[in-house]
Amino acid sequence: MSNEDRNITWQASSLSRQDRENNNGHHSRTLWFTGLSGSGKSSIAFALERYLHEQGVRSYVLDGDNVRHGLNKDLGFTAADRQENLRRIGEVCKLMVDAGVLVLSAFISPHDSDRAMVRSMFEPEDFIEIYVRCSIEECERRDPKGLYKKARRGEIPHFTGISAPYDVPQSPSFIIDTEQCTIEEAVQDIIQHLQQIGALH
Ligand code: PPS
Repeated sequence: MSNEDRNITWQASSLSRQDRENNNGHHSRTLWFTGLSGSGKSSIAFALERYLHEQGVRSYVLDGDNVRHGLNKDLGFTAADRQENLRRIGEVCKLMVDAGVLVLSAFISPHDSDRAMVRSMFEPEDFIEIYVRCSIEECERRDPKGLYKKARRGEIPHFTGISAPYDVPQSPSFIIDTEQCTIEEAVQDIIQHLQQIGALH
């Protein structure tokens, strides 16, 4: 059904995204971290948020576990639920980018098609995909929440990397290999990349 048929009209703000970016003194973008559970997405995103905060950059982490506590508490881990999870997150990211924020979005987002769906919501320069690479063997060795052990015992259905797929990103904007670098190095590498592509001054 069209918006018109649903009696829905877009209400324009008197402020533009540009106005908000100008006030903030930096661009707003979505950094989309994708990777296996335990790869380091959340740790890197939260460390980056702290660093950016100290530099006066308005940033905010949207994290898979956290968003599933509230906004997406009705969703599980089937392919259809993950798609809806990521669609909603994409919409939230869009609003936050319009609000002038540098959004750090940390979701497994295992399917190419879902990542493409979210990317298509943005202008190309506004969506920066960062692949947090780590082998399944290393993620399973780290197992910070004990989820891999549970999944191996068959107690978690559709567990990414064990009983559900992870499509390795084919052309991410940037790759962080967490078997090769520390969290602090990852943060500095990302900052450098953002400066190189003009997303950060
Ligand atoms: S997805 O695939 O993008 O919709 O997943 P996401 O919203 O990022 O949620 C991943 C976190 O949920 C926990 N968890 C699971 N992960 C993968 N598969 C299954 N079946 C599952 N069940 C629960 C887990 O803590 C994930 O967090 P991270 O930070 O990735 O370890």
